[in-house]
Amino acid sequence: MYSSKITGLGYYVPDNVVTNDDLSELMDTNDEWIQERTGIKERHWIPDGSEDSSAIMGVKAAKIAIERAGLSKDDIDFIVFATLSPDYFFPGCGVQVQDMLDLPTVGAIDIRNQCSGFIYALSTADQFIKTGMYKNILVIGAEFHSNGLDKTTRGRGVSVIFGDGAGACILSREEDNSKGILSSHLHSEGKYADKLIVASPSIKNWVPEIINSNGKDISYFPYMDGTFVFKNAVVRFSEVIMEGLEANNLQVSDIDMFIPHQANLRISQFVQKKFGLNDDQVYNNIMKYGNTTAASIIIALTEAWENGNIKDNDLVVLAAFGSGFTWGSVIIRW
Ligand code: COA
Repeated sequence: MYSSKITGLGYYVPDNVVTNDDLSELMDTNDEWIQERTGIKERHWIPDGSEDSSAIMGVKAAKIAIERAGLSKDDIDFIVFATLSPDYFFPGCGVQVQDMLDLPTVGAIDIRNQCSGFIYALSTADQFIKTGMYKNILVIGAEFHSNGLDKTTRGRGVSVIFGDGAGACILSREEDNSKGILSSHLHSEGKYADKLIVASPSIKNWVPEIINSNGKDISYFPYMDGTFVFKNAVVRFSEVIMEGLEANNLQVSDIDMFIPHQANLRISQFVQKKFGLNDDQVYNNIMKYGNTTAASIIIALTEAWENGNIKDNDLVVLAAFGSGFTWGSVIIRW
């Protein structure tokens, strides 16, 4: 069996920065509330008239990752694209990337696991590499949230949290089995699907039915039971990190860098405290980007690597929790 290693990383966020004060002009909110509850100071939102979309931002991040991996586009033999905000209901963003990057006619799949999307995507790619089926896989996480948020006071409990952006990595075959992705651990609990959901439009509640409701049906905006999500997130984060460490006979003290999904700074801090990690063992950037869902871990991983926070041979732990519910971890020897 082969091992798989991240050989290139890149991210892209739109230039347009939206501060908490900017949001307070759209809805009844304020910088103090948002920072105190979430840690978020600002986020990037695609402005009106921009060409950007989940697929296009994914392409921009992918170009950087491919170049940094020292590969050409013809070396990519599979695409895995994680998003909850695809450009189209169908087809998925993966095939758009194949076209926009003019890649060979390689396979492309979309992963729909929301905030755990990048963990699921990386794990999926890892299996294809480990079995020897592919050598270089382009893995992307991208979200265009801002156009789908309720930017009125009615939606403030959700809309202040989310940001737009994309990250990408190249996962490549590695001969040294002691390096690269050591294991991944995936979970779901669908009975809580309605705790964090965009319910419509769906085949069961299609566009004409929403229009006919004369504005009463707002199930096309995200709904979140924030307190319930928070309570489940802190438990599942802790469980799945321990599961990953134990599977590799590792201890919490072996962690060099923990990169949590950037859901809420308070969740990250809770987990950090529980595991007794120092500030330099945890990478957070939610302050600048908000929650970018499937893009959050890969943007954070890229930034941490660019800033020199991840060194050769470090034990890097990625973990996420999100809608579904879904959660997971990936343990990497860098
Ligand atoms: N600005 C100002 N006030 C706001 C607000 C905003 N943006 N959003 C909600 N409020 C108000 C509420 O209306 C409520 O007012 P009330 O007491 O008069 O009814 C009050 O603030 C408290 O709301 P509540 O929802 O109980 O706040 P909270 O302490 O639970 O924090 C979250 C809300 C969303 C920040 C928090 O629950 C959370 O972070 N949950 C996890 C979310 C998450 O991680 N999601 C992504 C999962 S991957």
